[in-house]
Amino acid sequence: MSLESVVAQSNVIVCCGSGGVGKTTTAAVIALHAALQGRKTVVVTIDPARRLADALGLDGLTNEPAQIPGLPEGSGEMWAMMLDTKATFDGLVRRYAADSNQTEQILENSFYRNISTSLSGTQEYMASEKLYELAIESDYDLVVVDTPPTRNALDFLEAPRRLAKFLDHRIYKVLMLPTRGIVKAVNVAAQTLLRSISKVVGTEVIADAIAFFGAFEGMEQGFKERAAEVDSLLSQPDTAFILIASPHADTMAEAQFFAARLRELKITVRALIINRMQPSFGDNHSPEDLAERYAGTPLGEQYQCLAEAQHLARGEQKHLLGLAQELAPAPVVQVPVQAFEVSNMATLQLLGQAMFDTDVTSEP
Ligand SMILES: Nc1ncnc2c1ncn2[C@@H]1O[C@H](COP(=O)(O)OP(=O)(O)O)[C@@H](O)[C@H]1O
Ligand SMILES: [Mg+2]
Repeated sequence: MSLESVVAQSNVIVCCGSGGVGKTTTAAVIALHAALQGRKTVVVTIDPARRLADALGLDGLTNEPAQIPGLPEGSGEMWAMMLDTKATFDGLVRRYAADSNQTEQILENSFYRNISTSLSGTQEYMASEKLYELAIESDYDLVVVDTPPTRNALDFLEAPRRLAKFLDHRIYKVLMLPTRGIVKAVNVAAQTLLRSISKVVGTEVIADAIAFFGAFEGMEQGFKERAAEVDSLLSQPDTAFILIASPHADTMAEAQFFAARLRELKITVRALIINRMQPSFGDNHSPEDLAERYAGTPLGEQYQCLAEAQHLARGEQKHLLGLAQELAPAPVVQVPVQAFEVSNMATLQLLGQAMFDTDVTSEP
């Protein structure tokens, strides 16, 4: 298997890994690569770096994909969007509300406004919701989704289940009791819960919460079914999870933890990308020996630098070995650190060459 064939066989690719390793960039690179090969692709980015956003022509949240112009002739299409969590959530409410009255009541409720932007996991859930919309309800050949820059990147996977659980929550049940009277329903347990919810969302407006749950009545089933569908899309064989890591010991340890959790969730990592590797140089001449031979001269200093870089590169190789073995037979792609910043389509394409040309093919 190679990264090339993993991409070719997938209709959905989820780029995951800890923050700052290059998830957003990689997602864009993969979408561009597949588009250059003739497919119609879309990349859903979350908090892209300014320059990448500029490169993709994303100035601000749009929540609907826009096509990237200027791909060479013979290419497919590349579309890109920046996730707008609230707009996506609003869309779900519209979809499942019985009528415009119910929609309005929910959208205008301030408890809803808070959870739709700041409840832990909402961004992750909406990313997976958007992924579902694009994969199932649109005609893209490939949807590449970036995951939020949380420390716990697994929120993305757990979000649908968490939302379902949230709706299953005691507080919800209590407030929905047929005989509910507000005073009766908000018993001590419920109050404690509401207080902890208030802490998360930063609001003390309990009455708003009650109004929200009231307005939400009848929609929970639709939400739960949707969450289950999203969950099942994530476990389809043509959905590929690609783990991105950087070669440093600490992020490597995070990647290892991450891989272990994915295994628990019965999710196979289909490719491992180690981004920003130190370039390594052939072993024909030992730079240490050369540094010694030319010690005290400018050439000696240069060999010294080379020896240090070599040392770093070897250290990185050692770090990634364990993870690569754990994820075998997933291909391991080592992407060298680039001297340029990804700031336009040309540099995105260059990084793509680095990624797909260094694509190490390992036998399954
Ligand atoms: N191989 C690379 N070489 C050099 N810079 C890179 C490379 N990959 C990513 N970057 C840069 O690193 C920064 C973080 O990348 P990003 O994709 O935003 O990470 P993440 O989404 O995981 O937080 C960006 O400025 C990006 O341009
Ligand atoms: Mg990112």
